[in-house]
Amino acid sequence: MTPVLRDMVQETRVHPNQLILPMFAVEGTKVREEIPSMPGVFHLSVDQIALEARALADLGLKAVLLFGLPAKKDEVGSGAYDEKGIVARAIAAIKQAAPALCVITDICLCGYTSHGHCGIVKDGHIANDPTVELLAKTAVAHARAGADMVAPSDMMDLRIGAIRRALDETGFPDLPIMSYSTKFASSFYGPFRDAAHSTPAFGDRRSHQLDPANAREAIAESLQDLAEGADIIMVKPALPYLDIVRRLREQTNAPIAAYQVSGEYAMIKAAAARGWLDEQRAIDESLTAIKRAGADLIITYFAGQALANCR
Ligand code: PBG
Repeated sequence: MTPVLRDMVQETRVHPNQLILPMFAVEGTKVREEIPSMPGVFHLSVDQIALEARALADLGLKAVLLFGLPAKKDEVGSGAYDEKGIVARAIAAIKQAAPALCVITDICLCGYTSHGHCGIVKDGHIANDPTVELLAKTAVAHARAGADMVAPSDMMDLRIGAIRRALDETGFPDLPIMSYSTKFASSFYGPFRDAAHSTPAFGDRRSHQLDPANAREAIAESLQDLAEGADIIMVKPALPYLDIVRRLREQTNAPIAAYQVSGEYAMIKAAAARGWLDEQRAIDESLTAIKRAGADLIITYFAGQALANCR
C-alpha cells in the first residue's frame, strides 16, 4: 500500500551511468538550431556542443554518442574519414571541456554521401567490401581524434572484424567497439534522417538493415558481431523490439545497448505537447521497460531530461 514498500520491491531501476545521449555536431560557431521533428534536440556547432557536453557532464551524464553533419557531401563520403572533419573536431572540443565524459562516435557514411546511402554505390547498390575499408578508416580517424569508443551503425557485412583489425594495427588495440549489431530497417528513423540530412536519394536501406519480421536473423547478426570482436552489442529501435533484447539477454553474456530512436522520441514529444501523454511518466516507463527487457545501456535523446528522474 505504501510508496516506501513499493520502492523496496521495485525490480528494475534506470541508472544515470547507463544513459547515452546522442548529439549532432554542425559546422560554424554559435550555432544552436532546434531540429523541428525532435523538439529539445539541437544542431550544435563545435563550440556549443562542448559547452552543452560539459553542462550535462556536471549533471551526471557519463556518455554521448556523436553524429556529424559535414560542410560538403560527396559520392564517397570523404567527410566521414577526414581527420580534420566535423566529428574529429567535436571530439577534441568535448574531451577538452569534459575530459571524463565518454565520447562514442557513430561510424557510417550516410550523413556524408551525396546520395545518402551508407556506403559507396556501384551499379545502383552499396558495394560492401570497399565500404568496409572506408568505415575502418573512419573509425581510425575518430580514434586518433580522441574517441573513447566507436559505434558502427552501417550494417555492412564483416565490418566489425575489419574495424577491430584496423584499430589494432594503428595503435588502438584497447579501443572498444559498440556495434549497432541488430539494426532494423525501421520507419522510426524518420526524424533522425531530417536531423542528419541522410535520407537516401533513391531506394532504401532494406538491402542491409534487418527485416522487422525476422527475429532469428536479428539474433544471428548480433552473435556474428560478437564473434568478430564487438564489445557491446545493440538493438535498434528499442521499444518495438524488446523481444529481441530479451532473447539476446538470454543467449549472450555481452553488454547490450538499446537505442530509443528519433521516432520513439518524437512520438512521446508530440503526444505530450498535445497533452495526450504525461511526458515524464512516459519517459520513465519507456526507459524502465527497455531495462526490464534486459538492456544494460540505453541510448536516448531523453538522457539529459532523464538524469534528474532516474529512480
Ligand atoms: C546511420 C544512423 C541512423 C540512425 C543512427 N545511425 C539512421 C539510419 O540508419 O537510417 C538512426 C537514429 C535515430 O533514428 O534516432 N546509419
